[in-house]
Amino acid sequence: MTDTVVFPQDRTCPYQPAPGYPPLAEQRPLAQVALYDGRRVWAVTSRDLTRRLLADRRISSDRTNPEWPMMFPSIAAAVSDAQQKVMKIVTALVGVDGPVHQARRKMLIPNFTIRRINALRPMIQEIVDQQLARMIDNGAPADLIPAFAAPVPVTVLYRLMGIPDADHRSFERLSHQLAAGPNANEAYDELMAYMSGLIAEKRRNPGDGVLDDLLTKPGATGDVEHEELVSTLVLQVAGGHGTTGTMISLGLFTLLQHPEQLAELRADLSLMPTAVDELLRFVSIPDGVTRLATDDIEVEGTTIRKGDGVFFITSVINRDADVHDAPNSLGLRSSSARDHVTFGFGAHQCLGQSLARVTMEIALGTLLQRLPDLRLAVAAAEVPFNPTAGFEVITELPVTW
Ligand code: HEM
Repeated sequence: MTDTVVFPQDRTCPYQPAPGYPPLAEQRPLAQVALYDGRRVWAVTSRDLTRRLLADRRISSDRTNPEWPMMFPSIAAAVSDAQQKVMKIVTALVGVDGPVHQARRKMLIPNFTIRRINALRPMIQEIVDQQLARMIDNGAPADLIPAFAAPVPVTVLYRLMGIPDADHRSFERLSHQLAAGPNANEAYDELMAYMSGLIAEKRRNPGDGVLDDLLTKPGATGDVEHEELVSTLVLQVAGGHGTTGTMISLGLFTLLQHPEQLAELRADLSLMPTAVDELLRFVSIPDGVTRLATDDIEVEGTTIRKGDGVFFITSVINRDADVHDAPNSLGLRSSSARDHVTFGFGAHQCLGQSLARVTMEIALGTLLQRLPDLRLAVAAAEVPFNPTAGFEVITELPVTW
């Protein structure tokens, strides 16, 4: 056990994999790692095996299985009695397998197609412009996260969902409380009460948000009552904005640390779509996608046993040298930029990926265009960050212009 790599490990640079991961990259396509509680689980390290296993029905996403491997003690606490209700949201979509998952996902898909998201570009641009104007009016320096990177995707996503603007702040506060505990159960009850009021209002006066659309759909299979299912789906989807906010702030920070690439991008903003995917690949949030094997699976002479935990280590897989010519460099013209697994793969592949890409593209593009002298207001080493790779990687981003 002594030479088993522990997972996850802290980053020492916000946009680089943990320095302890290279031994994992050498063990392709599969390695063993130890979790915080000593449990040994499989770490998938190659892109090809990731795609194969995440499309395999014996690889389960069922978070209610008592054998489910926990990456952090805080996640284990979240499924404890004190926060049991949070599980209802997790198991609405990402934590459920098979036909029930497919039926629920099918209800949501029409609202998140590339075509539908592209049609939102003017709305997203308007939100970005208003938020940026506010930040500029308040004057430099500013912490980019509360001033721009966090509120932009919240407003975009909540408008798309059909949550009234006046309620964004309280909805956001409760969602945060739900995710962060310790009063998660209370936050769940408040959010569900809010949702049932909103649903009643929408039944009287339908709008054109995702929530309005879901209310008109026939119920998905499963034993959950339709309005409760709609509410939990909305709460699960609404949780997606934090990742986009992180990618705007961390994406900008990464670009500022790569001045040549940043200059190239400023000179030709048509590179932005590839740059967005390359940033998603290069910084690789989250660190891992978790699964449980529900049957024995043979992988090149090794057997993943039924009941084994399987982690897809995004930051290692996204630097697979078989896929990327220069895996450890940020290449804004890279032809393999899109070959990453930052949005997962297979049945649960991120539903909001087009929305995340377009929001990042407009937010970062507008920042670079309107603020040609945008730069850090402190030394890079002083930018505080959360070394445990997850979603909230940098916690403050002081900038000036
Ligand atoms: C940069 C931003 C984002 C990243 C890195 C990200 C990452 C991911 C990953 C890795 C998964 C797969 C989880 C798994 O297989 O266990 C996922 C699923 C999901 N994401 Fe995202 N996400 C982002 C933005 C969003 C946004 C904006 C939304 C909101 C529309 C969203 C909604 C979802 C949903 C609903 C699922 C579950 C899909 C399913 O289980 O069928 N995500 N995301």
